[in-house]
Amino acid sequence: MAKLVVISNRVAVPKARGAAGAQGGLAGALNSALRKHSGVWFGWSGQESEEGAGGGIDTQTHDGVTTATVDLSKRDIDEYYNGYANATLWPLFHYRLDLTEYERETGKGYERVNEAFAEAVTPLIEEDDLVWVHDYHLIPLGERLRSRGITNRIGFFLHIPWPPTRLFVSLPYHERLVRTMLQYDLIGFQTQEWLDSFLHYCTKELGAEVDEATGSVTLDGRTVTARAYPIGIDWDHFQAQGDTGESRQAEQRLLSSTRRRTAMIGVDRLDYSKGLPERIDGIGRFFDQHPERVRDLVYIQVAPPSREDVESYQQIRTLLEQKTGQINGARSEVDVVPIRYVNRGYTHAQLYGFFRAAKIGLVTPLRDGMNLVAKEYVAAQDPDDPGVLILSRFAGAAQQLEDAVLVNPHSPDDVAHAIGRALDMTLDERRARYDKMVRTVHDENVQNWTEDFVTDLTG
Ligand code: G6P
Repeated sequence: MAKLVVISNRVAVPKARGAAGAQGGLAGALNSALRKHSGVWFGWSGQESEEGAGGGIDTQTHDGVTTATVDLSKRDIDEYYNGYANATLWPLFHYRLDLTEYERETGKGYERVNEAFAEAVTPLIEEDDLVWVHDYHLIPLGERLRSRGITNRIGFFLHIPWPPTRLFVSLPYHERLVRTMLQYDLIGFQTQEWLDSFLHYCTKELGAEVDEATGSVTLDGRTVTARAYPIGIDWDHFQAQGDTGESRQAEQRLLSSTRRRTAMIGVDRLDYSKGLPERIDGIGRFFDQHPERVRDLVYIQVAPPSREDVESYQQIRTLLEQKTGQINGARSEVDVVPIRYVNRGYTHAQLYGFFRAAKIGLVTPLRDGMNLVAKEYVAAQDPDDPGVLILSRFAGAAQQLEDAVLVNPHSPDDVAHAIGRALDMTLDERRARYDKMVRTVHDENVQNWTEDFVTDLTG
């Protein structure tokens, strides 16, 4: 029987799901897709070894999901993962030209690892299997598989934004990269906005024939379909987490430690795209305007460190430490501290409990492909007494969650104003907003996302 072969840089085996809060959305989504379709998940083990990808494949099966992983050499990790993927493509795709590094060597490393992945995964692909490649680390992989004679249907999903053409053309060899994408059969984006940017590029820079109604892109006699598939959360799995003792304990722990103060929470990988220093500025502005409310409100920022070998990540961490330190120094009393800043990840069950205890969820990325924390925050609320989601209008999720309190994350005044509104919002308004959002989060879940993509890929 034909199977699904999923390929992504990061492979998170089910037994490691406890760390979900630190993983970003991709890993959880793929676990769920693979539990449904028997298949194989291929990618990097996360380990470094001398032989790297040539050292052989490690295969394991947990909870119905088979993973096949390869190690990478130190040089591959430096050039492909820390270099081209996370110091070139990630900042560029998040509109941060100021942080984007353009190094020829890392570009070569990126191509080398894509080639090594293609070589390692090719023997796992059998006739009629569907192949589904994920994210910016592996854009050229489909073309590398084609050059090895793979004629199967191959899809690609980009979990992050696609930048406007004017930014994207600053990438040396941009045309070569996008031309490799035309070797896929189906390309998925999180939102219509990123899809539009991609189609614009194909028309203006490649001279491709684009049909916006169907998303078909034709160049040199080959046609690929590009569409938007907004990713969702695994609703049932997440609700099951909320039913655990671990979750209830986490909720109680937060409630008893905040007592009469309203808890406001943010959970983000420590990444400059998440707008953390800007968020802290907004919170600082709120306390400047309402110093007495330091007794009403406590902000909890959970920020597990991420990509620590990349310089821009080290800088953002230092900046955030300074900013939280400044506000706490200026606004704390002996018995109250306004910001709790925590550099670690929590399990999904614990996060559920924290989200439920927190009456305000603050999700204010400067740019984000989707952002599943926003959806998880909504999913964890008590329907009778739901909290308020404050959401950046620049997160992909804002296109679905229009009933959140939408903010411009660059504006401290806007964020401060939204916090005030959330604190004072009536129960009726909170319920009305929650009812609409929760329907979307429930209905447009990760199972539907998988089915939609896989159905279209099957053709
Ligand atoms: C984002 C990316 C994923 C990535 C995750 C965690 O969600 O879209 O591809 O896996 O961040 O980042 P990391 O570098 O730790 O894999």
